[in-house]
Amino acid sequence: MKKVLVIGSGGREHAIVYQLSRSSQVEHIYCAPGNAGIAQLAECVAIGDTEVEKLLSFAREQKIDLCVVGPEAALAAGVADAFRAAGIPVFGHTKAATQIESSKEFAKELMVRYNVPTAAYRTFADYEEAIQYVRSRNTYPTVLKYDGLAAGKGVVIAENEQEAQHALNDMLVGEAFGKGKVVIEDYLQGPEFSFMAFVDHHRVYPMPLSQDHKRAYDSDMGPNTGGMGAYTPLPFISEQEEQWALENILQRVADAMVQEGKPLTGVLYGGLMKTDNGIKVIEFNARFGDPETEVVLPLLETDAYTVFHAIATGEILDNIAWHKQATIGVVMASCGYPGAYTKGAVINGVEDFDGLVLHMGTAVKDGQLVTNGGRVLMCIAHGDNIQQAQQHVYAEIKKIHCSNLFYRRDIAHWAL
Ligand code: AMP
Ligand code: GLY
Repeated sequence: MKKVLVIGSGGREHAIVYQLSRSSQVEHIYCAPGNAGIAQLAECVAIGDTEVEKLLSFAREQKIDLCVVGPEAALAAGVADAFRAAGIPVFGHTKAATQIESSKEFAKELMVRYNVPTAAYRTFADYEEAIQYVRSRNTYPTVLKYDGLAAGKGVVIAENEQEAQHALNDMLVGEAFGKGKVVIEDYLQGPEFSFMAFVDHHRVYPMPLSQDHKRAYDSDMGPNTGGMGAYTPLPFISEQEEQWALENILQRVADAMVQEGKPLTGVLYGGLMKTDNGIKVIEFNARFGDPETEVVLPLLETDAYTVFHAIATGEILDNIAWHKQATIGVVMASCGYPGAYTKGAVINGVEDFDGLVLHMGTAVKDGQLVTNGGRVLMCIAHGDNIQQAQQHVYAEIKKIHCSNLFYRRDIAHWAL
């Protein structure tokens, strides 16, 4: 029987822990640092997700058989490199391979070199040169992206020169996200979707397609958030298109990363857009998407330990099997999110929800479950089709009561 350490503390990690807890091979799960929902399935350990040395010595002491890394910050801090060097199987990319997410410039250069379809772009380190370029192009909207990790806040879609000037000034002069370059790229249009795969060097095992909902309010209004809900499958992408994207985007990038001496050994997340000129890459992530993982991973039929361990150690898997049910996840967020919000509101009725409730930001205070973050819970239900899953999730979510939570009432509207 195996002991697993999961690193991270959100809904994504709760989904990972949930699937590992169902594996007949797994005896004990530790999660660093975890959350109140994860604590029902795993032993939470108070170590931060980038405290590499502490994580490693804990894993050594407990004789961990496998480590699964959730957040990009942990990967970019070199957690997987340290575990690999210590001979502990780890699911997650090296720091070098994580550049596919942590450096937009690296990802863009790789795509151009290996002919992966993406928006045309140029990179700038100097504010004057960048603004000159924007002026000479004089085409709006124009997309400005900070080169490094920016917790999802590094992209600005400028509608005019003034907005571009403001954003470039913030990023290159004010160094709002630290010292770094800016990628300026063409604005693309079309529905966005997420295509994730387990990748071990050249081997790519696709996951079901899913779609995130970034805006805070119904009808895709309001500010951008970390994601207010997700669903799978997607009716607007055909099997042929999916196969095309698998071969020409995910497989090509996996092969390219081997060629570059930075093989992938974890999740490759393609943030893709279906444009009138074909499917193109908006971004890559080097980890499970959040909140997409919360609807995709519960559909994993193959034993989760088998999958993570095989990717970590280079064993070949024949196939990864998935349940075919339609699945919807609705995020319950603190009132005010993504702006300022308060914590500590009592949540009742979670155990009455018929389906799966994954915790994104909760805590236990005086024996009661309370809100402890912007996004708090993700409520997940299945159905034979999207409509059924949607009816089910919205009927059940009414059973959860909290004075300080709100949610979108139209998750999966793109599919109906
Ligand atoms: P990213 O962090 O690169 O995913 O960008 C955040 C969001 O900005 C994406 O989900 C898109 O909605 C939007 N975006 C990024 N790049 C482009 C682009 N080239 N054209 C249009 N929208 C974009
Ligand atoms: N859902 C988008 C992301 O995980 O980056």
